[in-house]
Amino acid sequence: MTDSKIAKVELGTGGPEVGVQGLGCMGMSFAYGPTDADEARATLERALELGVTHYDTADAYGQGENEKFLSPFFKAHRDEVVIATKFALAIPPDEPTKRIIRNDVPYIRQAVEASLKRLDLDVIDLYYMHRRDPSVPIEETVGVMAELVREGKVKHLGLSEVTGGELRAAQAVHPIAAVQSEWSLFSRDIEAGVVPAARELGVALVPYSPLGRGFLTGSFANAEKDLTADDFRRMQPRFTGENAAANVALLEPIRAVADSHSASLGQIALAWVQQQAAMHGLPVVPIPGTRKRSRIEENVAATRMVLSEDDMALLEPIASKVAGTRYADMTFTSAGRE
Ligand SMILES: NC(=O)c1ccc[n+]([C@@H]2O[C@H](COP(=O)([O-])OP(=O)(O)OC[C@H]3O[C@@H](n4cnc5c(N)ncnc54)[C@H](OP(=O)(O)O)[C@@H]3O)[C@@H](O)[C@H]2O)c1
Repeated sequence: MTDSKIAKVELGTGGPEVGVQGLGCMGMSFAYGPTDADEARATLERALELGVTHYDTADAYGQGENEKFLSPFFKAHRDEVVIATKFALAIPPDEPTKRIIRNDVPYIRQAVEASLKRLDLDVIDLYYMHRRDPSVPIEETVGVMAELVREGKVKHLGLSEVTGGELRAAQAVHPIAAVQSEWSLFSRDIEAGVVPAARELGVALVPYSPLGRGFLTGSFANAEKDLTADDFRRMQPRFTGENAAANVALLEPIRAVADSHSASLGQIALAWVQQQAAMHGLPVVPIPGTRKRSRIEENVAATRMVLSEDDMALLEPIASKVAGTRYADMTFTSAGRE
């Protein structure tokens, strides 16, 4: 593949300019089984060579380990990269295996300092609320996030898995650059409320898990059989048992489109997200996650693909047929509150 860089897009009105595809870094330390750290580091460097400038992490990924892992790469390329991290998934002191959602002011103040320390940076480019605790008014949460901007600790604000209504309320307090939500051929619930609100407000969409956590690439068919015991996907209802078997059959139209483009299934999934967002009139920066150089090259190449109307029509019914929800507990998502 050539080293020509991918196109750029503004990450929300007034937001930073970034490559049209970002890199999700979660799997480098967390959730998806063992990692080859040297290959992951090489993947970060290769991504940057190809014009990927937006890198996504969170304090919760490996309890801070992901931020620490990424820090040397970020520091070596500080002026070339736009770094996103997140707060809100807290570990209760007496239950280290549990996660609770914290949106309160003292927690956010503590979380931002901890992320800055682990990243060893003076400022975070894009700071997200990772998950929403509806018991805390969103105005209060975004109010303190806005203070962090004024104090120079954070440049831009983002929200993950918020509803359209929550996004509107937040935007009334401070401009929001980006909403990060799951969006893929298998997960389209955000098109009902979040996508129209983002378009109306000039907020960019950062689709996470655009490859359906790898399932849309055909790289695994059943999480319980194909993935290691600690892999998070074994807890996701659509990747196990009868659901998984039914969902594998839904890859067939993707395979047909892929064959007609001499492309991979994953490339079709990524091209679809890009094109679907364009149809909705939205700036979009999907953040597929990979730890492998060969896959970053494949994924980045999808930004240059164009799907025809016939292709889009063939792919259209897939999401409505998916068996099983995207999380075991959907209150964790915007769809659970819309
Ligand atoms: N806001 C949130 O709540 C939230 C939730 C989940 C994720 N995220 C963010 O979104 C990012 C991306 O989501 P994700 O990692 O869950 O899912 P994803 O991007 O849909 O899929 C990642 C999986 O696909 C595999 N993969 C990547 N490219 C491939 C290719 N070309 N061929 C075959 N397999 C390929 C990866 O394996 P290898 O790594 O081995 O290549 C990994 O297992 C994360 O890294 C994280 O930063 C945010």
